[in-house]
Amino acid sequence: MEELRRARAALGSDVLVLAHHYQRDEVVAWADHVGDSLELSVQAARSAARWIVFCGVGFMAETAALLARPGQKVFLPRPEAGCPLAEQVDPASLRAAWQTLGRVLDMDEVLPVAYINTHAEVKAFVGERGGICCTSSSAERILRWAFARRPRVLFLPDHNLGLNTARLLGLPQEEIAIWDPRCPPADLSPFARAQLILWRGACPVHMRFLPEDVARIRREHPGVRVLVHPECRPEVVAQADEVGSTARIVRRLQEAPAGSAWAIGTEQRLVARLARAHPDKTVLPLADYPPFCPTMSLTRARDLARLLVALAQGQEPEGVRLPEEVAEPARAALQRMLAVAA
Ligand code: 13P
Ligand code: SF4
Repeated sequence: MEELRRARAALGSDVLVLAHHYQRDEVVAWADHVGDSLELSVQAARSAARWIVFCGVGFMAETAALLARPGQKVFLPRPEAGCPLAEQVDPASLRAAWQTLGRVLDMDEVLPVAYINTHAEVKAFVGERGGICCTSSSAERILRWAFARRPRVLFLPDHNLGLNTARLLGLPQEEIAIWDPRCPPADLSPFARAQLILWRGACPVHMRFLPEDVARIRREHPGVRVLVHPECRPEVVAQADEVGSTARIVRRLQEAPAGSAWAIGTEQRLVARLARAHPDKTVLPLADYPPFCPTMSLTRARDLARLLVALAQGQEPEGVRLPEEVAEPARAALQRMLAVAA
């Protein structure tokens, strides 16, 4: 801790430490900003810091690197910390799906939309085809934008977020088809008819919440308001009172009146922090055994210390590097999103 404190002081404003809401408290304690993934990337690009240390998972550091100013370098303290949801779509299976769907669809009619939880190569594939990124808070606005431009959308990789957003748009079930990359279908006819094609991927953390959890919490805490992240199953979202992105969950609790009671269906480190930040409200985890994101948990204060000490000693570790042929189209998809829903 002492080495970390000294390195941090020596680096001064040359370094900006960012921590996602799902990070451990021991990491959050050192952060200049705590926020959701997009908020932090935008903040990083606005800062004059030379080095951005992103305590989060791979796609977040990549997003920060894509939006960074020239000369800024982005580091992930644990480079192996990936997002299990983002791992569910890779460029090869995406190319294969696009090709197969091309047997029954005119692919010029399909607008690809990549959730921010994707690797830069996937964002690049989408960007090259006029597609766009979205976050959980902008998914509805981005899907409306997409359907105003092309008759069909391929949305990846979170089918729960896709289904929950389709419901907000009033899209009927028969207009939706789900593409399972592990088991591509023999019968392509549902895809030929669908307006919205969803990639079958899901967040293992948010999948842990079940409709039974909502029923139990209502039984045990009458009057509680149930607020869940849109990566939760549609059956859970249907039972909840409200659905909201990470940023919205944080805001909703800030606005809530003293004495109100909330059960939150999202990553437990954020829920625990919200409970501590709002002692005048009851903030409960939705599940009995609330889930932690395993890869968000990898980063410890000692990892941050190792990185900051290296920087303070004049060593510059590798950092997040993306080849320009990937970075350029991936950035285009992100910038389209920022223009539509910043
Ligand atoms: P954000 O809401 O910060 O983009 O987080 C994405 C995420 O990983 C949700 O599980
Ligand atoms: Fe990825 Fe889910 Fe973890 Fe978010 S909570 S980083 S979507 S695995």
